[in-house]
Amino acid sequence: MINIAVLGYGTVGSGVVEVINTNHRSINKRAGDEIRIKYVLDLRDFPGDPVQEVLVHDYEVILNDPEVAIVVEVMGGIEPAHTFVKRALLAGKSVATSNKALVAKYGSELMEIAREKDINFLFEASCGGGIPIIRALNSSLTADEIDEITGILNGTANYMLYKMSMEGSDFDSVLKEAQAKGYAEADPTADVEGADASRKIAILSSLAYGKFLDYEEIYTEGITKITPEDMAYAKELGMTIKLLATSRKVDSDSFYALVAPFLLGQNSPLFSVNDVFNAVFIHGNVLGDAMFYGSGAGKLPTASAVVADVVDEAKHLHRNIMTNWSSRALKLMDLDQVNGRFFVRVKGMTVSEVQNIMGPVQIVNLKNLPGEFAFIAAGMTQGEYREKAGKLNGSVITMIRVKD
Ligand code: HSE
Repeated sequence: MINIAVLGYGTVGSGVVEVINTNHRSINKRAGDEIRIKYVLDLRDFPGDPVQEVLVHDYEVILNDPEVAIVVEVMGGIEPAHTFVKRALLAGKSVATSNKALVAKYGSELMEIAREKDINFLFEASCGGGIPIIRALNSSLTADEIDEITGILNGTANYMLYKMSMEGSDFDSVLKEAQAKGYAEADPTADVEGADASRKIAILSSLAYGKFLDYEEIYTEGITKITPEDMAYAKELGMTIKLLATSRKVDSDSFYALVAPFLLGQNSPLFSVNDVFNAVFIHGNVLGDAMFYGSGAGKLPTASAVVADVVDEAKHLHRNIMTNWSSRALKLMDLDQVNGRFFVRVKGMTVSEVQNIMGPVQIVNLKNLPGEFAFIAAGMTQGEYREKAGKLNGSVITMIRVKD
């Protein structure tokens, strides 16, 4: 029997208990031993819930119990999660977590302790919910030099943009729906301002490129400024708007990364990734293109990935599963040097005035928005765009990058 302890009985924690109870036969078979939840840690009581029988309020009980081999951290946030996880690893207990904030900030430290102790710190659920992307990067794509990762990595933002585009719903009401469905973070600012997606692309990039990408170095723009008018222009162009998190290896030692809303055309594999779904597009030098798609947030998809890590840890109780993650920093190039195309809405200018500054552009007009028009400028670096946009005399209403 392998005893585990679950830290946190919130959305994901209760999902972990449910998944283990529902699929205990197949899980035990795959783990090669019986997985038993010996403790659930939470500050609250849950009268009437069977979890009450294994509920503890004091972490020391778990830490000091030599029978506990695996700790599942699903509390979220940095503290006390970091202290609890570090102490568990130092005590020789493997840890499975869904906590992207923890992995993005302390992943290097925690993986190093796990390596030294010959145990494991696994975090499949931290990126893309139930999509098995971490394991794919760690073991299936090891023959490749990966040069691009582009993901729809925040279910809440994707759900909101989809509803706004399909139903014309307003921002606040779709955010409330996403919260009610258990997709959003406790503080949804991280979802709508892009920090959650930024942490996830930092984790995926660190694994793919073998150097640590600090999420705080990533230029991040959220979806709070996207309006129904922007969506209407996207529709007119036969495109859509998605929050993308992307990183690219430009040459052997040059990388860039950003999180921002992008206009996507129908030829993009990410165009049809709607609702709460997430997807991760990967390009490798020998693989070519691959895409991973699935449920990106929510109780059971996330719990499924956490429990899969528990099974892996049960199968490797005293052997560290290697990753390509290193604590050497991955340096990002200045985004001003990065090429792109730009969708821009302007007011109070003529087309020829715009073309004199921007060069040849594709023009879009919407009948119900007199006094303004939009254009897509030809490819140029972001620095060139900024310089030219500065000459548009404050006429720019909004700029959204175009995904090529
Ligand atoms: N709030 C996150 C999202 C949860 O919406 O994607 C999954 O990490």
